[in-house]
Amino acid sequence: MSEPTALIEVAHLTHVYHAGTPHEVRAVYDVSLTIRPAEFVALVGGNGSGKSTLAKHLNALLLPTEGRVVVDGLDTRDPHALWEIRRRVGMVFQNPDNQIVATVVEEDVAFGPENLGLPPEEIARRVEEALRAVGMLEYRSREPHLLSGGQKQRVAIAGVLAMRPRCIVFDEATTMLDPEGRREVLDTAHQLRDREGIAVVHITHSMEEAAEADRVVALHAGRVVLDGPPREVFREARRLREVNLDLPEVARLHACLVRRGVQLETQALHPGELADQILRLRRAVV
Ligand SMILES: Nc1ncnc2c1ncn2[C@@H]1O[C@H](COP(=O)(O)OP(=O)(O)OP(=O)(O)O)[C@@H](O)[C@H]1O
Ligand SMILES: [Mg+2]
Repeated sequence: MSEPTALIEVAHLTHVYHAGTPHEVRAVYDVSLTIRPAEFVALVGGNGSGKSTLAKHLNALLLPTEGRVVVDGLDTRDPHALWEIRRRVGMVFQNPDNQIVATVVEEDVAFGPENLGLPPEEIARRVEEALRAVGMLEYRSREPHLLSGGQKQRVAIAGVLAMRPRCIVFDEATTMLDPEGRREVLDTAHQLRDREGIAVVHITHSMEEAAEADRVVALHAGRVVLDGPPREVFREARRLREVNLDLPEVARLHACLVRRGVQLETQALHPGELADQILRLRRAVV
């Protein structure tokens, strides 16, 4: 079933919580998607659309009610593959304070590799490498609770990196941060993809952040309703509105200018693109 380039293959995945009880919830329904190595995927959708449930299937925190999930050739239903899958797909969650276990930054990052039973020199090497990759090496001896939210999230990312993952899932990891913290975490995610070839699945309510991904997957009521490059997905303004999703601010401004008769070219998603289009137009008139 898997094409050779797939890192994670989700095939006809359905997830039902409390199946067979009066509290049954079908959170994900017949979802099929492929995550490729070094791909940056934004996963968007309204509250309760199934994003976190789907995310938890990507590293076997949940197992399919129906369908299957294969990570790097390993089926998540295979109990022998569980730890190998968790090592290959790391997760970073919303609340930075819930993810840090140790009282010193480097001890926190060492936690995962220590559990792998690696020799001390290898652990030290990985901790240093991971902290350097997220720009937190100089904070190695600090107490995590004294760091900013963005810095704490970067320590959490380093903890995942020390396991040498192939994919990192960010489940609203920027939601609780201020703009600077958001930028720090998002830049770190992009760098890991660019430099280390790590695939990123970024769950977010921010359409601006989604517009920076290679691909946007939109969920509604547990189903995939849109899946494609940001430029294609954000062209579907009506469909997005139907499933309670916005356009990025710049795309809204673009649409607003077009409605007022300004002859703009292709859909702009980033401020610079829109500015360039307006400048070209002005030059054409002058
Ligand atoms: N542990 C659980 N037990 C029962 N139902 C659950 C559980 N976790 C989630 N659900 C339900 O499954 C559906 C999908 O929830 P999920 O958390 O995956 O959505 P989400 O898209 O991540 O939402 P949000 O944007 O609020 O984080 C919702 O109806 C939710 O109430
Ligand atoms: Mg969620």
